[in-house]
Amino acid sequence: MTNDHPRHLAQTPPLGWNSWNAFSCKVTEADIRAAADALVDTGLREAGYEYVVVDDCWMAGETDSAGRLKPSADFPNGMAALADYVHDRGLKFGLYSSAGSHTCQGYPASLDREELHAEQFAEWGVDYLKYDNCGDHRGRDAVDRYAAMGDALAGIDREIVYSICEWGENRPWEWGRNVGGHLWRATDDLVAKWRADPDEFGLGVADVLDRMAELDVAAAHGPGGWNDPDMLQIGNGPASGQSEHEPVHVQRPLTKAERRSHFAFWCLLAAPLMIGADLTSLSAFDRDLLTNERLLAIDQDPLGMQGTPDRRDDDEEVWSKRLQEGAAVLFHNRSDDAREISTHAADTDVPAGSDRYRVQDCWTGNEWETDGSLTMTVKPRESAVVHVTPR
Ligand code: GLA
Repeated sequence: MTNDHPRHLAQTPPLGWNSWNAFSCKVTEADIRAAADALVDTGLREAGYEYVVVDDCWMAGETDSAGRLKPSADFPNGMAALADYVHDRGLKFGLYSSAGSHTCQGYPASLDREELHAEQFAEWGVDYLKYDNCGDHRGRDAVDRYAAMGDALAGIDREIVYSICEWGENRPWEWGRNVGGHLWRATDDLVAKWRADPDEFGLGVADVLDRMAELDVAAAHGPGGWNDPDMLQIGNGPASGQSEHEPVHVQRPLTKAERRSHFAFWCLLAAPLMIGADLTSLSAFDRDLLTNERLLAIDQDPLGMQGTPDRRDDDEEVWSKRLQEGAAVLFHNRSDDAREISTHAADTDVPAGSDRYRVQDCWTGNEWETDGSLTMTVKPRESAVVHVTPR
């Protein structure tokens, strides 16, 4: 099993953009170039978003005679030229494949051709591989299939962040690091809904949070290896200024309150933040949300702790996350009415041993002091987030 994979990569959760949520299988080279340009123009690169990842459907329907992947006609200049374009903008380039015979959309994938494909990725200048779980597994278990690609990546002369997309089916938080993974999906696909219809494909934001609260995954999470609750759906849906594309996974736009909560929770989870929107039509609201420095600092805190729930009931939730200095506390209103939600520092991950604390509201920047009691007024589906530091 892999030991010499680049462990120093992904010391904080990777930040970037991925084509799937907005472009699905219609993605083209022009879309990727436009996304790279937009990351620079919108200030998202400056805020830390650095990976530009082409998801499923970049490959032609057939490999070459040796089994190598070929880009589709929608990528006429090829992947090395596209990687150069991305690198020239100070960004990093990612591609997608699957640990099976085919990708989820039926394109050729990498099982039993791991070394050949890893060499291609290195030649092209790939910095990040998202590795899905679709296609025929040829009777091999997940650990074996993901270790094969981890070993292949360890054997090439290029450092590639290895993103395991196994949907949490075989507890990847228990073996993801050992096969060379830097992040692993803990949950099923997130759709642009607060709650998904159980009969439909995918999970809503609140469904993913229920799963993350239930799963005993936080211990596995930290510098070099991250639980991944899936890519962001902020900026998707007609009311967010979506383009004419018709993404298969976009059901309806999230409201502003829901988008704020989505982002706040992902930061509290120290989740990888992969933007999933068409950046050429991103609203000012969504851009400001995605570049909120106080929230991003919580996500990127060097300790790399995953926030966990302190209490959850039908109407309200309180979660907290230990930070290098103090802790972040999130108050979420699940009900349909505004609520005052209270907790005490002693009931959260705020470090003990003080009777005075400085508190900062991460949305407004307002600051105050407290003896430890914390009360926030929170609108329906909103989340208040405070940074609490012992004095
Ligand atoms: C799976 C993954 C998604 C996306 C699609 C592409 O559903 O979980 O994130 O990559 O495949 O087909």
